[in-house]
Amino acid sequence: MSTQSLYPVSPELAGSTKLNDEQYRKMYQESIVNPEGFWREHGQRISWFKDFTKVRKTSFDDHNLFIKWFYDGTLNASYNCLDRHLEKRGDQTAIIWEGDDASEQRTLTYTELHTEVCRFANALKSQGVRRGDVVTIYMPMVPEAAVAMLACARIGAIHSVIFGGFSPDSIASRVNDGQSKVIITADEGVRGGRVIPLKANIDTALESPDVTTIEKVIVLKRTGNEAVKHVEGRDIWWHDLMALSSEHCEAREMDAEDPLFILYTSGSTGKPKGVLHTTGGYMVYASMTHEYVFDYRDVEVYWCTADVGWITGHSYMVYGPLANGATILMHEGVPNYPGPSRLAEMIDRHKVNILYTAPTLIRALMAQGKEHFDQLDGSTLRIMGSVGEPINPEAWRWYYEVVGKSRCPIVDTWWQTETGGCLITPLPGATDLKPGSATRPFFGVQPALVDNLGNLIEGPGEGNLVLLDSWPGQMRSVYGDHERFVLTYFKTFRGMYFTGDGAKRDEDGYYWITGRVDDVINVSGHRLGTAEIESALVAHPDVAEAAVVGYPHDIKGQGIYAYVTLNQGVEQTEELRQQLRQWVRNEIGALASPDLVQWAPGLPKTRSGKIMRRFLRKIAADEVGALGDSSTLADPSVLDSLIDTRLNRA
Ligand code: WT7
Repeated sequence: MSTQSLYPVSPELAGSTKLNDEQYRKMYQESIVNPEGFWREHGQRISWFKDFTKVRKTSFDDHNLFIKWFYDGTLNASYNCLDRHLEKRGDQTAIIWEGDDASEQRTLTYTELHTEVCRFANALKSQGVRRGDVVTIYMPMVPEAAVAMLACARIGAIHSVIFGGFSPDSIASRVNDGQSKVIITADEGVRGGRVIPLKANIDTALESPDVTTIEKVIVLKRTGNEAVKHVEGRDIWWHDLMALSSEHCEAREMDAEDPLFILYTSGSTGKPKGVLHTTGGYMVYASMTHEYVFDYRDVEVYWCTADVGWITGHSYMVYGPLANGATILMHEGVPNYPGPSRLAEMIDRHKVNILYTAPTLIRALMAQGKEHFDQLDGSTLRIMGSVGEPINPEAWRWYYEVVGKSRCPIVDTWWQTETGGCLITPLPGATDLKPGSATRPFFGVQPALVDNLGNLIEGPGEGNLVLLDSWPGQMRSVYGDHERFVLTYFKTFRGMYFTGDGAKRDEDGYYWITGRVDDVINVSGHRLGTAEIESALVAHPDVAEAAVVGYPHDIKGQGIYAYVTLNQGVEQTEELRQQLRQWVRNEIGALASPDLVQWAPGLPKTRSGKIMRRFLRKIAADEVGALGDSSTLADPSVLDSLIDTRLNRA
C-alpha cells in the first residue's frame, strides 16, 4: 500500500473524538477476549424495563444454530427513542424535515414526536393491530414514516417497510409473505420533482387475487390529489384516525428477542427474503454504532440521505440516532435535485454536522462539477460517511476535498441488511484512512477470509468474507422460513456466517471489500438478485430465456445487463427492447430495469445446460480479451456471436 493513499488521523482530531487508536485497540481486544463482560456493560446504553441477566447465547453451528442477545431482558424500542429523552430534551428538535421543494420545512421536537407516535399507536390499535401483527409501511420520506414505524414498535407490532420505488407486484408478494392485515401509505409521494403514485400502486397490488389478508389501508394526505381512489370500508385517512385518538399510550413491554421489524432483501436465489430483526440486540447495536462510528455528540445535526425503505434508513435514520437523542435531518427528495448544489445548500441551511450518504450520489455530483460546491460554507460539517457499495478512491478523494474541504474524516461503513448495523468501518480520530477501504472491524465483530473450500486465510490475502461470531444486531431469521436462513448464511462455510461478499486484507489488517461473489448485483447501492430480474424477463410472452449480469457503470457502480433470447419468430426491435425494460419496471420497480438489453440467439451453457455467467460478465464488462477456457461449453461459437453484438463499447 503506497503511503500517498494514507490519510492519517491528525493529532488534533485524535484528541477531540471519543476514541483514539489506542483506545479503539484496547476496547476491540476486550470485546473479543471477554464478549460477555463487554456486552454486559454496553447493553446498558439503552433503557430496559427489566434488566437482562443473560448476555448472549449464540452458535453458528448449522445443525444447532441459535442467536440470542440480552434475552431475559424486556424493553420497548419506541420508549428508547422517545420517552426516555423527554425530561432532558423534550424541547430539542428531533426531526428537521425539508420537502422536495425546499420552501416546505417542518420541525418536530421530541415531545411533539412522542405525542404523534402515541396518537398513531392508538390509531393502529383502533384498527385491530395487535402485538406480533405485521404492518406494511409504503410511505414517502416524511416524518409520518418514522411515526408509523415507532408507533408499531410502541405496541409490539412488526413493521415491514417497502421502498416507495417498488412496483405493485413487489408489494403484493411482500404483503403476502408477511400476512399483513394493515398497510400505511400516502396518497402520493414527491421525489425529484416527480409525483409517485403510492396509493394507486397499493390499489393495484390489492387487486391481485393472491393478496387476501389486507383489511385496512391508512392513507396520509401528502399532495392532496383528489383523483386518488378511496375504497369505502377499507381505506381510512390518517388525519381522521389521529383526530379520534388519544395521545396517551404506554409503551408495551417487549422481550429482547421479540421481532421489531422485517425488511425484504434480494438474494442470489428465489424471491426476496424477509430479514427479521429483533428488539434488544438491534437497539443496543444500532445506537452504539451510531454513536461511535459517527462520533456523535449531543445536539448535533445528523443527516442520513437514505430512504426509510432500506436498512440504512432503519438503523441510521430512525432507531440509532433517535435512541441517542440526536437531531435528524430528513429530506423528502433527492440531494441533487433541482440541481447539483442542493446538497451544499442543505448542509449550510441546517448546519449539518454529520453527513451519511452513498458513493453513487458522490459520483453523480462529481460528474456535474465541483463548482456547485463553491458556495458551500460547510464549517459545521465534521464527519462524513459512505455506505452501500465500495467507494472508488477517486470518488472518496472528491468527497473528502470538495464536500469535506479536506477537514472531515470519511467513515466508509461496510454492512448489510442482515447485519443490522456497521461491521467494518473506520472510527473518526482512531482510524487512519485509506480511500476505498472500509478498514477495521467494529467492537465484537470478527471478520475473516476463507478460500472456496472454507480454509481460513491468514495475514494479507483475498477471499470470501465471513464472520466467525455473532454480534447483537445480527438478523435472527428469514421471516417464516428459518430453514432458508440457515441454508443461505451458514451452510456455505460451516460454523461461519457467509456475507456473500469478497474482500482483501492488507498488511495493516485493513479490509477492502471487492463486491458480491454471488449472483447479487449492487446498483446505486441497491441490492438486486439477478435471478429475480431474469424471472421477470422470462414472464414476458416474447421471451424464451434471459440471463442478467452486472457491468461496471460510472455513476451507479454496477449497471444491469440483460441477455435475452426471444421466442422463435419474434422480431428483435428497438421497441421490444424498450418494452422489456418497462416490463421489468412494472414487475419489480424502476431500480431493476435493465440498462442494456442485448439480443442473444443463444446463451453460453455447459453440456448439462447450466449458463456460464462468468463469460457473460466478461462480455458485459467489455473484457473480451480474457474470456478464459470455453472448452466446457456445449457450443463455444455462441460466444463469438455475443461478442460481435455486445452493446457497451465506447
Ligand atoms: C451489500 C449489502 C449496508 C446498508 C446498505 C446496503 C455492499 C455495503 C459497503 C461498503 C463495500 C458495501 C456489500 C454488502 N456494501 N456497504 N461500505 N463497501 N460494499 O445494504 O442492500 O443489504 O447490501 O452492499 O456488497 O453485502 P444491503
